[in-house]
Amino acid sequence: MNTNKCAPSGALVNAVWVAEVYQNGWGVPQDYSKAHKWFEAAAAAGNTDAMIDLGRLYEQGLGVAQDYGKALEWFQKAVAAGNTDAMINLTRLSVMDSKPEAAARLLELIQMRLISEAIHVPAALGVADLLAAGPKSADELSKVIGASAPSLRRVMRALASFGIFSQDSDGRFALAPMGEFLKRDMPGSLHSAAFLFGGETGTSTVRLFLECVKTGRSATHMLTGGKGSFEWIQSDPELTKLFNAVMTSFSAVHMTGLLETGLLEAYDFSQTKKIVDVGGGHGKILSEILKENAGQRGVLFDLPHAFEGGKNTIAQAGLADRCEVVSGDFFVSVPAGADLYLLSRVIHDWDDEKTVAILKVVRAAIAPHGRLILLETMLRPDGNTVYPLLSDLNMLLITGGCERTEEEYRALYRAAGFELTRTVATKSPTGTTVIEGRPLVLG
Ligand SMILES: C[S@@+](CC[C@H](N)C(=O)[O-])C[C@H]1O[C@@H](n2cnc3c(N)ncnc32)[C@H](O)[C@@H]1O
Repeated sequence: MNTNKCAPSGALVNAVWVAEVYQNGWGVPQDYSKAHKWFEAAAAAGNTDAMIDLGRLYEQGLGVAQDYGKALEWFQKAVAAGNTDAMINLTRLSVMDSKPEAAARLLELIQMRLISEAIHVPAALGVADLLAAGPKSADELSKVIGASAPSLRRVMRALASFGIFSQDSDGRFALAPMGEFLKRDMPGSLHSAAFLFGGETGTSTVRLFLECVKTGRSATHMLTGGKGSFEWIQSDPELTKLFNAVMTSFSAVHMTGLLETGLLEAYDFSQTKKIVDVGGGHGKILSEILKENAGQRGVLFDLPHAFEGGKNTIAQAGLADRCEVVSGDFFVSVPAGADLYLLSRVIHDWDDEKTVAILKVVRAAIAPHGRLILLETMLRPDGNTVYPLLSDLNMLLITGGCERTEEEYRALYRAAGFELTRTVATKSPTGTTVIEGRPLVLG
C-alpha cells in the first residue's frame, strides 16, 4: 500500500515513515492500528498521501472497523487538497457505497475528458505565463490574450475546482502548485505535454481509441500506414520538437525521486565507469547522473532527430569532455563495451517481440559484468498511483507498447539473455521503478 510515494517534508516525515513501518511490518511486527494512529497524525497535519492511506485502512477494515463512509471522507479530503491519486480510490469506493453515487461518479468520469481538454486551453493561450506576474480576472486575461471573458472564466473556474488555479473572493485567478507547471519557463514544465496530449495532436490519436482496442494496433500504426510512433513523430518537424520537449519535461517529472532527493538514495550509479543511455532523448537524465558522478563517462544514444538537442544539453551541463552524443538505431546496434546500459522509458514503447530484439542488441554490446537498468513506471500490485495505468493506456493508443509488472520484465530479461536482479521503487510520485539486470551466464 502506497510504499513508493514521495516522502513528505519536515515534521511529517517521521509520522508517515513510522506509519509505513507498522503497516508493512518493516523490522517490527505488522500492526495496522499503530499505522492508523500515525497516518491520522500526518493526515491531520495536511499530508494527502496519509489521507489516502487512512481511507484504504477504513475501506479494508485494517486496524479499524471497516467503514466505507469514513474511507470516502478521507479520499474526498485528499482530492479536495489536490491529490488526484485519491480519485481512483473515490471512484472504486463510490461503486461499493451507493448506486446513485456510482452513477454520478461514472458520469463525471465520462465527462472528465473535458478537464484534460480544458487544461489545453490556458496552455494554448499562455494564461499561466500571464498569471506568473500576479492574480488576474478573466476580463484582464481576456483583454491581453484576445479571448471571450465569460468563456475563459468558466474554464478557469472548472480548473480551479481541480486545484490547477485558485480563485479569490474578487474572482481573480492565480496559479496553484499544479498551474505553475503550465508556465513555459518552469523547470519540468508540462506546457508542451498539454499540447501533445490535448488539442489537435491529442485528438488525432484519441479518436482512434476504439479502433485500437478492436484491432490491437496503435493509433500511430494506423496514422502512418503501418509504420509506428517514431515515424509519426518524425514525419513533422513541429511534432518532433514537441515530442522532445515533452520527453525532457517527463524526465524531470518522473525522475523527481531520483534526481531531487538524491540519486544515490534510489540507486547507486557511483561504481559505474561508463554509461550508455540508449534512447536517451535530449540527455536530461544522463547529464544529471554524470554531474553527480565526477569522472564517469557517458554516451547519449538516440535517433538522429535527438542529436542536436542532445548535444546542447550535454554542452550546457559542461559535460562535452566526458559524454559523446551518437546517433543510431537500437534495433541494429548500440555503442559497445560500457558497464551500464540505461534505457529510460524506452521499453514501454514496444511490444514483447521488439523489446526482446532491443535487449538482445544491448546484450551483445554490454561488458560481461555490466548492468542493465530500465527506468519504467512499473505496474505494482500494491500501487495506489494512478499514473502507471494511464501511461499504459497511452502506450496502447500511441506506441503499441505497454507498462508491465515485475514478472513480465523478468521474463523479457530472460528471453534476451539477462537476469533480473532486483527492482527498486523510487520516490517518484508517478511510480518510476529501477529495474536492474545482469547478463545471464549460461552453462
Ligand atoms: C519515450 S522516449 C524516452 C526518452 C528518454 N530516455 C527519457 O526518459 O526522457 C523514447 C526514446 O527512444 C528513442 N528511439 C525510438 N526508436 C529508436 C531507435 N530505433 N533507435 C534509437 N532510439 C530510438 C526515441 O527517439 C526517444 O527519444
